[in-house]
Amino acid sequence: MDTHVDIDPAILYFGTPVAVLSTLNQDGTTNLMPMSSVFWLGRTAVLGIGASSQTALNLTDRPEIVINLPSVDLVTEVDRLALTTGNAAMSAGKAARGYVHVADKYGHAGLTAYGSDTVLPTSVAECPVHIEGTVAALHELREPKLVAVEVAVSAVRVMPELRLEGHPNRIDPDRWRPLVMSFQHFYGLGDRVHPSRLASIDEELYR
Ligand SMILES: Cc1cc2nc3c(=O)[nH]c(=O)nc-3n(C[C@H](O)[C@H](O)[C@H](O)COP(=O)(O)O)c2cc1C
Repeated sequence: MDTHVDIDPAILYFGTPVAVLSTLNQDGTTNLMPMSSVFWLGRTAVLGIGASSQTALNLTDRPEIVINLPSVDLVTEVDRLALTTGNAAMSAGKAARGYVHVADKYGHAGLTAYGSDTVLPTSVAECPVHIEGTVAALHELREPKLVAVEVAVSAVRVMPELRLEGHPNRIDPDRWRPLVMSFQHFYGLGDRVHPSRLASIDEELYR
């Protein structure tokens, strides 16, 4: 086969939505972590995170979370959170990569805390989507120092302008402009490219 070549990439970030995870620190403040290894199945979210992150430590002891989804216009604030950790005892590897300890992630990023409905960590007011939940399971991955967190979604809150007209519980994908990460760089979505046969299924049938 000569249409492809074998490569050995160090990372496999082929493009996923960016999320900002809110978790509860020991002192009751909320830590924020930008991340993009996330997917959803039904009312379950699955997150891939580093085991030594403050977020993983928080979720082990205090299993409540908000998955905040930033829109593309929040890229500056999200990028300010890059290379920061809430873990004062960060690993040598992270220190070598230039990470700094930041206790107040909201202040550092210029974001605003907003009370959540069903969990203790605060939500990010500027993010148009807040997905609240509790940890249902924490799996150690085959690769060391990585965990997969299974989150049972307890509430979903959105800015009203994202809703599909006439459908209070649905999102209009033409109005939702997610921030996407591909190989460590930030992107937005383009326009719809093709009619969708899957979209002929009524969303309510997934309940
Ligand atoms: C856009 C973006 C995406 C990231 N995606 C992930 C990810 O999917 N999983 C992960 O473990 N770290 C990811 N990181 C790195 C974490 O943000 C980083 O480890 C951070 O220090 C964790 O914060 P904490 O220690 O305060 O929890 C990402 C960073 C950025 C800026």
